[in-house]
Amino acid sequence: MALLNWKADYCTGNAKIDDDHRTLFERINDFHYAWEHKRDRKDIARVLNRLVEYAEEHFAREEGIMRAAGYPGLARHQAIHEALFEQIFVLQGHFEDGRIRIDRDAVDFLRGWLVDHIVGEDMKLSAYVEGRVEAVPARKASDIDVV
Ligand SMILES: [Fe+2]
Ligand SMILES: [Fe+2]
Repeated sequence: MALLNWKADYCTGNAKIDDDHRTLFERINDFHYAWEHKRDRKDIARVLNRLVEYAEEHFAREEGIMRAAGYPGLARHQAIHEALFEQIFVLQGHFEDGRIRIDRDAVDFLRGWLVDHIVGEDMKLSAYVEGRVEAVPARKASDIDVV
């Protein structure tokens, strides 16, 4: 069974970000599958590398979208991305140099690593964009100039 299942609740409302998040789900599921089926270390390292690479690409892309939207929480969000990247980078490094074995805790860590961030932080972008749309006053028929 897949570790992570995509839910509508995870949609941020930005199609590109949502596509990226779905891909990250797949990458974490690939990693979980490799671990659960006791693939050799090389295989697990390969899927972990793909996950780390994609996470880096995604963070940069998401920050670009936030910048373009004028999102005021960008600097804080970038700092959170840096900390998240550091966590996964350290995990990858420790696995590669044989300091850790991937266990259930590491798998659960990855699940929380992604889902908590999407739900807790990435969703704030959609709240901001929606709030901004609502803040634009609706035009009334009487506002429209008749020429
Ligand atoms: Fe994010
Ligand atoms: Fe994200």
